[in-house]
Parts: sequence; C-alpha cells; structure tokens
Amino acid sequence: MDCQKFFQQLWDDYTQLTPQAKYIHQIFADDGNRIVNDHVAFRTFNIKPIDIGSLSPILLNLGYRPFSPYQFEEKKLNAWSYLHDDPAQPRVFFSELKVQELSSPAQAIIRKLCQQVDESATHAESIFWSGRQWTTPSWQEYKTLLAESEYAAWVAAIGLRVNHFTISVNHLKDDNLDYVIKKLKSANIPLNKIGGIVKGDKNSLLEQSSTLADQQDVIFYDGDKHKISTCYYEFAKRYTDSSGHLYQGFVPANANSIFHSTDQRQH
Ligand code: NI
Repeated sequence: MDCQKFFQQLWDDYTQLTPQAKYIHQIFADDGNRIVNDHVAFRTFNIKPIDIGSLSPILLNLGYRPFSPYQFEEKKLNAWSYLHDDPAQPRVFFSELKVQELSSPAQAIIRKLCQQVDESATHAESIFWSGRQWTTPSWQEYKTLLAESEYAAWVAAIGLRVNHFTISVNHLKDDNLDYVIKKLKSANIPLNKIGGIVKGDKNSLLEQSSTLADQQDVIFYDGDKHKISTCYYEFAKRYTDSSGHLYQGFVPANANSIFHSTDQRQH
C-alpha cells in the first residue's frame, strides 16, 4: 500500500467519526486554500500486540522512520514521532498509555480488552482504521477508565483509529493561526481552550490549536447508549530554527494541552 492510499483510508474513517473535519476542510478550501496535512496522530495501549513496538513496522514499511521519543509523565504516556523519507508526506505522532501505571481495576479492564485482539490483524495497514478489536466495554468500565485516564477511556471505546488530522497553517494563504481561529469562530466551531487557544509560540518553533472533538453515540456492552468524544481537527504552524531548518518535532507542553481535545468534560 502506498502512503496516498493509506492516508485516504484514514481520512475516510476519520471523517465518518468526525463530520466537523469534512466541514472545516471545506471552509478552508472554499477560501482558496490548498490543504496540506501536517501530521496525523494515533493512540494505543502499551500492551502487545497493539503497542507502538508491535505496530510501528507498518509505518516503517510505508517509508517512515522514527524521529523523536516523547514522555508525558502525568498522562502516563510514551510517544514517538515519525518522519517520511519524502518530506511531502505528513508526520506521524504515535502515543501509547503505560497501562501498568493505572490502578488494578483499570488495568484489569484494559487487559481484558487487549486479550481479545486477533494478533494476525495487527500486521496489516488496516489495523490503523479498524476501530475496536474488542467488544465494547460496559458503561461502568468506561467510567472507571475515564475517572483515571480520559485517554484510556477513549481508546477503549473508539479503538484503533486516527485521533486527528492537522491542517498545516504554513501552507494556508494567510499562514497564521489568527486567520484560522477567526474562520473557525465565525463557523461556530468549538475550540479546545486548555493551555490557551493557541498552544506554544514562535520561540518554541511550533504553534498549535485544535477543535473540541465531535461526539457520537456508542452502545456500551450492557446496552446503555451514551454520547462520547470521537476525534478533532488540529492546526499547526511551524517555524524555522536558528540554522534555517523548519522545525519537525513536537513540543510536549503543547501536546499535553492538545490531548484534552477529546475531554468531553470541556463541553
Ligand atoms: Ni497533533
């Protein structure tokens, strides 16, 4: 599979879960912009066979190479960013929850889900848009996870799917976040305000904003139906460093705030 097909599949899956993304994409395209994807992000648990180590060979086969590791102590996450040999391809940001750092009840719920994963499904690209590899948790289990880790609850209910696409602000005709935010506000798109509407600054070489995730009904194991957060859209403006190279990394302080875009307690 080539990258173009891979990202098309991801986009098709993502926009089904996240109708706002199609709408926002259209708003910027209608304003005369060429939309370039800065990066996509994936979330998972650090449990085989769906941990970063098990799934990253798929990215390497697509031409990606690991670029930089990241740690989010408070959120109990490890992450890696990946760059493609072809700089026209989007970056990939892949994080995993350190499940062993959660309480025993939360660990038990997650381990029960991961036991259901069919290992043979984890070697194909399609694992990245396959959704839950397990039966839906019960509402009670979901709430137990949510109380400890919003990230854990999201992965348990949504599964393996892209968490967000990102519009490259550098490629917009007005290449600044003020323009982006004005457009989003006039379209009444709710934004993630944690850490400020704009996260980061020119000195950190990366400025980012994100929407609040869409919500969708999920039927939980016990038959209860509840609206939960799905995915959101991000916007990234990159600056050049002192040697004139465009910054390629991610800023942990920004990412830490961006993770809150799926926190439905913000609604
Ligand atoms: Ni991102």
